[in-house]
Amino acid sequence: MSFHPSVGDGKITVPELLQRKSQAAASPEKAEKITCLTAYDYPSARLLDEAGVDVLLVGDSMGMVVMGYDNTLPVTVDEMVLHTRAVRRGTRRALVVADMPYGSYHADAAEGVRNAVRFMKEGGAEAVKVEGGERRLELISRLTEAEIPVMGHVGLTPQSVHAMGGYRVQGKSGEAAEQLLRDAHAVEMAGAFAVVLEGMPRELAAQVTRELRIPTIGIGAGPDCDGQILVLHDMLGLTFQPLPKFARQYANLGEMISNAAKQYCADVKNGQFPSDGESYHMPQGGKRLTTLRLA
Ligand code: KIV
Repeated sequence: MSFHPSVGDGKITVPELLQRKSQAAASPEKAEKITCLTAYDYPSARLLDEAGVDVLLVGDSMGMVVMGYDNTLPVTVDEMVLHTRAVRRGTRRALVVADMPYGSYHADAAEGVRNAVRFMKEGGAEAVKVEGGERRLELISRLTEAEIPVMGHVGLTPQSVHAMGGYRVQGKSGEAAEQLLRDAHAVEMAGAFAVVLEGMPRELAAQVTRELRIPTIGIGAGPDCDGQILVLHDMLGLTFQPLPKFARQYANLGEMISNAAKQYCADVKNGQFPSDGESYHMPQGGKRLTTLRLA
C-alpha cells in the first residue's frame, strides 16, 4: 500500500507551520507547539505519522544511529534518498523533510540545488534541511527559487564536528551569541520556512524564537522554541552511547529487543519454538509420507 500527501485533510504543510508561528505571535496562550522526530524507514515513519508527529526529518543522524558511523560525515546522497523514499511511503499526514548530507551542498549552490532536486523527485521529500547560517544565504535563496522549501539548522551543527572541535554547546559567549543571532536571521532572510536550533543556551534560543517570524525547532535548546525535535533512536533507547542531557528517553526498546532475542534463542534451543500450533500439517491429517530412496 502506498500513501500520497493530499493537502486540506489535516496534512501538515509548510504554510500550515508558518501559520502556527503567526498565531503563536498573535496569541501565545493558544500557540500549538510543532512536534518533530527523525525517521529513517517505513515502519517507524508509519508509526510516528499515525501517532500525530507533525514533521518527520530523515536526518543524516541515520549515519550514526542506523549505520554505526562515528559521525554524520560519511553519509551519501544516495543513502539519504533511499531512506527518504521509505519514510515517504510510510507517511500520510506529517511533513517529510530530508537532511542534505555533508558534501552535497558545500562545493557550490548549483550542486546543492541539483542534489536537493533529487530528494524532491526521487525521495518524495517536501522540504530539505541544510546546516549553517550566514554562509548558506546564497544556497537557501537558490533552493527557495527552485520551489524547494528549506529548513535551516544553526548552533551546534553536527556536520561541522571537526571545525567545532567536538559536539559543543554553541553561543555561550556574548560574541558567539551575536553570531548565532545573525545566522538565524540570515537563514530567515534567505527564505527558509523554519530553523533548527541545536545545542545552545535556553535564553539565546528564546531570543531567536522571539525575533524570527519563522518557527524555531529546538534540540538541546530549551523549552521556549516553537517546536522540538529528538533523534528517534535516542528517545526509544536504541543507542549505545550515553545520551546528552536534553535527550529524554521515552522507552527502552533496546532492552525489549535484547530480551526478546534471548527468549527466542532459549526457546529454539530447548525445543519450545516452534510449537505444533506454529507448524503446518499435511491435509490428510498426518498420513505417513512415502520415504524417498535416493540412489
Ligand atoms: O540529523 C538529524 O537527526 C538532525 C537533527 C538532530 C535535527 O539534524
